[in-house]
Amino acid sequence: MINALEIIQKRTSVRTYSLRPLNDRLKAELEKICGENQSGPFQNSPRFQLLDLGEIGREELRKLGTYGVIKGAQLYILGAVREGKYCLEDLGYSMENVILKAIRLGLGTCWLAGTFKRGSFARQMHLSKDELLPAITPVGYPAEHNTTVNGLIRLSVGANRRKPWEELFFNADGKTPLDKEQAGSYRDALEAVRLGPSATNRQPWRLVKDQKDQYHLYLKENRLYNKLLGKIRIQNIDMGIAMCHFELVARQRGNKECWQQADPNLHLHGLKYIASWLHNGYIK
Ligand SMILES: Cc1cc2nc3c(=O)[nH]c(=O)nc-3n(C[C@H](O)[C@H](O)[C@H](O)COP(=O)(O)O)c2cc1C
Repeated sequence: MINALEIIQKRTSVRTYSLRPLNDRLKAELEKICGENQSGPFQNSPRFQLLDLGEIGREELRKLGTYGVIKGAQLYILGAVREGKYCLEDLGYSMENVILKAIRLGLGTCWLAGTFKRGSFARQMHLSKDELLPAITPVGYPAEHNTTVNGLIRLSVGANRRKPWEELFFNADGKTPLDKEQAGSYRDALEAVRLGPSATNRQPWRLVKDQKDQYHLYLKENRLYNKLLGKIRIQNIDMGIAMCHFELVARQRGNKECWQQADPNLHLHGLKYIASWLHNGYIK
């Protein structure tokens, strides 16, 4: 079995791509991954499309862009979802699944929710009226050398830094930090959340462990920031990514719980409840 935590540890945002094209087998594999039926823990069904810039007319190509952030990428994965409750969490969850599969194939990716021309990419995906295109990612072989733009972005958001455990994971009172020993068989699942990508690396995920060894997931929202893209609440995408990482690693460590929505009403100041990892069943 492929170790999910290892893949998660390997992932890093790649903004500069090699011009070496993917062979047909690999491209077909990516098409297959994008075409798989997706369903998030909140029952929304995002859809994904592989876009090859080499197959687009010049006129259209000129309109697509990432404001100079991404260099050399020929392929993009586009992620769309119908508007609905928790659709952004489900988009984050499903798209991160797709991204981790691409990484397993030896490819690089980079979540983009802000720095791309949304309208032009949306036209390529033939969005219906009630669909959103929250994010895209380039996909391909990483270049041997990075560009200065990439270095500047990484520096400005502190991309290599992650918050320590004590700022992210708590005991049932929501205040006392949870240490690694107390996390028991969930230690790696929590570490997988901590290593996850998040918009401008704000790391808004918080988890609280209750007395029954169940976990409750909260968003520490930056309200202004989360409204910058209108309907596309970028930090809610982060929460879906966290759910994906937690679930993949928890399952591999033999934990059988599932994500459900059952707010334990802990009244934690400044935290928005998202979902709980509970013993009995699934949200579905
Ligand atoms: C939802 C989401 C949206 C993001 N949007 C952008 C973006 O628009 N442009 C960009 O350069 N990076 C974007 N990123 C990448 C983050 O900056 C990056 O994940 C973070 O700095 C941590 O670095 P790492 O992915 O290398 O671990 C986004 C990440 C996430 C999760």
